Amino acid sequence: MNTLITDGSSLERAAEIVKKGGLVIFPTETVYGLGASAYDADAVYKIFEAKRRPHDNPLIVHVSDPREAEFFSYTNALYYRLARAFMPGPLTLILKKRENIPPEVTAGGDTVGVRCPSHPVAREFIRLAGVPVAAPSANLSGRPSPTTAAHCIEDMNGRVDAIIDGGDCEFGLESTVALITGEDSVKILRPGAVTAEALSCVCGSVTTAEGLSPGETPLSPGMKYRHYAPRAPLYLLDGARENVISYVEEKLRSGERCLFLCYDAEAEAFGGAAISLGGEDDELLHAHRLFAALRETDDYGAEHELDAIYTYMPKRDGGISAAIYNRLIRAADHTVIKV
Ligand code: TXA
Ligand code: MG
Repeated sequence: MNTLITDGSSLERAAEIVKKGGLVIFPTETVYGLGASAYDADAVYKIFEAKRRPHDNPLIVHVSDPREAEFFSYTNALYYRLARAFMPGPLTLILKKRENIPPEVTAGGDTVGVRCPSHPVAREFIRLAGVPVAAPSANLSGRPSPTTAAHCIEDMNGRVDAIIDGGDCEFGLESTVALITGEDSVKILRPGAVTAEALSCVCGSVTTAEGLSPGETPLSPGMKYRHYAPRAPLYLLDGARENVISYVEEKLRSGERCLFLCYDAEAEAFGGAAISLGGEDDELLHAHRLFAALRETDDYGAEHELDAIYTYMPKRDGGISAAIYNRLIRAADHTVIKV
């Protein structure tokens, strides 16, 4: 059993657990994290076991103040420019690591991800722990990242020492991960709430890691795994909105047992076969709801037979649409149907 902490005044207890080598799930503004002391190799090893995470996928190290990166990594002027603009907040920067970070955290690599979350509970918890906190998202490997304490309990109950309930995560998709590649250049390894456009305001060159060719090694190991997967196959329908709607209508008419991740306007017409991500143009709400909606499809599938899940191919017109596309294309295992 693990302790459920629902009261901010008990954060000291959670911090004590981390100091003693335990595992604590904590809320952030992106998704919930599964944390342990980044200096404690045994504790970090337990994170991988609890999540059933492949050991070659490195963890992000969380700090309560961007300057704490000095203790365990080599910063530069660009790091501080980016930190001033976007930290605390949903940005992870990859830097060269110092010796004191054990290889368990970085999967043997010589770089480390640094993130200072803006969620007040996360920052206070890390500050009280007095050590940097290594934390992946608090889901079982392959499941959608958790955006509520209930999701964490679903995946991790009994596998950790404590869960801090901080309610719904505000953004709902994981942080932007960017590699500092020079004095004025970064490469986005995972798109998130801090967009390429925003990074360009502070940094001369912003590039994006594109999809991998077969056999190529990804810069960010996490990008090679099938992530965020719902249990039933998910298909992205690429075409005009009316074509998407009639495609799903036709599938339902033909007796297929399917769910439609759609927008508010059509949700009512599809009744029990629809899960809405919000209004069509409200991308922030789509991001906020996406992982919870994927989990709902699993709950539905546990009670009814489910052949397929359909959704719109996300727009790719800049901003956070890049982050939504990145998560959905993986959840769909790259299956796109032209309609
Ligand atoms: O919003 C977030 O980033 C959440 C919250 C808890 O902070 N954390 C999170 O961690 O999403 P995780 O482990 O689920 O995803 C981290 C991603 C993985 O794709 C991993 O491969 C990549 O960041 N990553 C971590 N350290 C890296 C490094 N040194 N070099 C390249 N990629 C790295
Ligand atoms: Mg994750």
